[in-house]
Amino acid sequence: MATAANTMTSNDGAAIEARLSEERLFPPSETFSAGANISDPAIYEKAGENPEAFWAEWARQLEWVEPFHTVCEWNPPHAKWFLGGKLNLAANCLDRHLKNARRNKAAIIFEGEPGDTRVLTYYDLWREVNNFSGVLQHLGVGKGDRVTIYLPMIPEAAIAMLACARIGAIHTVVFGGFSADSLRERINDSQSKVLITADGGWRRGNVVQLKLTADEALEGGACPTIENVVVYNRAADPRHVAMTEGRDHWWHRLMEISPKRVDPEVMDSEDPLYILYTSGSTGKPKGILHTSAGYLTQALATMKWTFDIKDEDVYWCTADVGWVTGHSYVVYGPLAAGATVLMYEGAPDWPHRDRFWEVIEKYGVTVFYTAPTAIRAFMKWGTEHVEKHDLSSLRLLGSVGEPINPEAWIWYHEQIGGGKCPIVDTWWQTETGAHMITPLPGVVSTKPGSATRPFPGIGADVVDENGDSVPPGSGGFLVMRTPWPSMLRTLWGDDDRYQKTYWSKFGSKNLYFAGDGARRDEDGYFWLLGRVDDIMLVAGHNISTMEVESALVSHPAVAEAAVIGRTHEIKGQAIAAFVTLKDGFRGTSELAGELKEHVAHHIGVICRPDDILFSAELPKTRSGKIMRRLLRDIAEGRALGDTTTLADPSVVAGLKDKYENAEG
Ligand code: WT7
Repeated sequence: MATAANTMTSNDGAAIEARLSEERLFPPSETFSAGANISDPAIYEKAGENPEAFWAEWARQLEWVEPFHTVCEWNPPHAKWFLGGKLNLAANCLDRHLKNARRNKAAIIFEGEPGDTRVLTYYDLWREVNNFSGVLQHLGVGKGDRVTIYLPMIPEAAIAMLACARIGAIHTVVFGGFSADSLRERINDSQSKVLITADGGWRRGNVVQLKLTADEALEGGACPTIENVVVYNRAADPRHVAMTEGRDHWWHRLMEISPKRVDPEVMDSEDPLYILYTSGSTGKPKGILHTSAGYLTQALATMKWTFDIKDEDVYWCTADVGWVTGHSYVVYGPLAAGATVLMYEGAPDWPHRDRFWEVIEKYGVTVFYTAPTAIRAFMKWGTEHVEKHDLSSLRLLGSVGEPINPEAWIWYHEQIGGGKCPIVDTWWQTETGAHMITPLPGVVSTKPGSATRPFPGIGADVVDENGDSVPPGSGGFLVMRTPWPSMLRTLWGDDDRYQKTYWSKFGSKNLYFAGDGARRDEDGYFWLLGRVDDIMLVAGHNISTMEVESALVSHPAVAEAAVIGRTHEIKGQAIAAFVTLKDGFRGTSELAGELKEHVAHHIGVICRPDDILFSAELPKTRSGKIMRRLLRDIAEGRALGDTTTLADPSVVAGLKDKYENAEG
């Protein structure tokens, strides 16, 4: 068992101690490697020797109007990639495929929640994007203008994004689950000229009223830069949708009166592509700015090597377009690669808890990419929903968003992958734009719970407080030592905050600080330990949330767990665990005692939780990440902090009551 890593100082000088030991190893099968897009392990060394040459080779796979003359210019903390190059990203995702056999291939297969379906070939998608580019031009949108997109998970979201890219406008997609306040703040920060929305979208049999929320955001001139609102008719009878004269226009009407063909704007490699807001735990959302050529280069490279994408695949990434995963791995990456992308509008448990498996069977999905929070929900619901369906088309599985607990990994591997699909656990961020740490499935043997190795050409490291690499087996801060093509370029309108947030921690060493803790084991594998701010300090030991949670999840009764440190007179902090049980188990005091022992036995007595609270749900962000900050507020008996990014605020209110009563 790995122990006592002694280089990372987080709270007060103690080291993060890595305690989870995972001995299971899953080498790629010979058949998978034989057919894989990359199967030569020498690529790591080759890319490591000359990352710029490695990335330039990928960039040359794009279609350029004018080639670049310089690969990378690095003036820390600002990077430029593929300087001098001219291209258009929508042309790379669409037009180039019309010249080959992909012309009539399915680009997007859409499954609506009510069961309606659509297939758009590459030609269809190209035609729609051209026409919508005409709409945007008709509304006076030009190069560099900002356009806010607030749509359900329907093909029009991709069409709107690609139309912006085609005419050189900067899109900023706001997740359809966000409130009027959040939408307004993002529109105003980006100073968008046009808002694209829909009357509504389907979620668990109900219509999410996007247009009403958009109206609320704009009410009383609250967004002065918005000149026009385009409304797609998805879910309602158009006669019942209130349209503001002169401002609001139906998508289909504008399509009729606008040009049907628009030539792609010639863009510079470093021209902005999009702004995507991330709501950190506190403060104003950060407008992450991504640019053109470098972004698409890394999205394409990872699409081909991490997901091993082939022309025959049916690829399904379950993320919403409102998140970066939806940008890089529903729209830009897969379409640049000429893949067939499945898009599903609704919830995984509607109308039944087998909807995802039904969809996989129906379309013969081969590559499936989802989040640990979803996997843990499936585990909780039980295998009977999975067993109803034939999932034998699957050949590769992916995970993103949080550390995946080893038990969830094994469940995913066995129950969904039938024991035969490699799993790629991909670590990356909105800021990084594309995968950074991930297995190459035909090359790397995987270990459940580890994102394994940095993608070739990526300079990831684990360092101590001084920015020096920690020895193997040790924990520390996850950093990037070198720039990468799809890195954020700045924060929109706030370069100071960009420098402070990501580049100041290690001063003149110019390291990108990701905010995550990590350990690198003796084989050079990376184990993500959770956000550094969440790490607990118990009796002088820094303990990772991820490891205690994984120990809890390895108990057969537990579906999901969130742990936090609460103030304790003697130990500094005591561990409080919030636990969700699998269907069919009851949260008794005997079980609580058993779980405490289970953790102590698995990863050490120092990690034994003081409190266990059973809960039907855990507080999560709308993107599915557990919000430990609010659990700390509950455990400390404080007023709850900012709850606006929660998916369901009633969950924490309920937990707060329960916690206070349990303590008596
Ligand atoms: C944070 C970034 C990347 C797209 C979705 C989330 C956590 C993400 C993993 C993983 C462990 C992960 C990190 C990271 N995270 N993927 N495979 N293993 N942790 O994007 O909202 O920008 O969040 O998500 O903490 O910093 P995001």
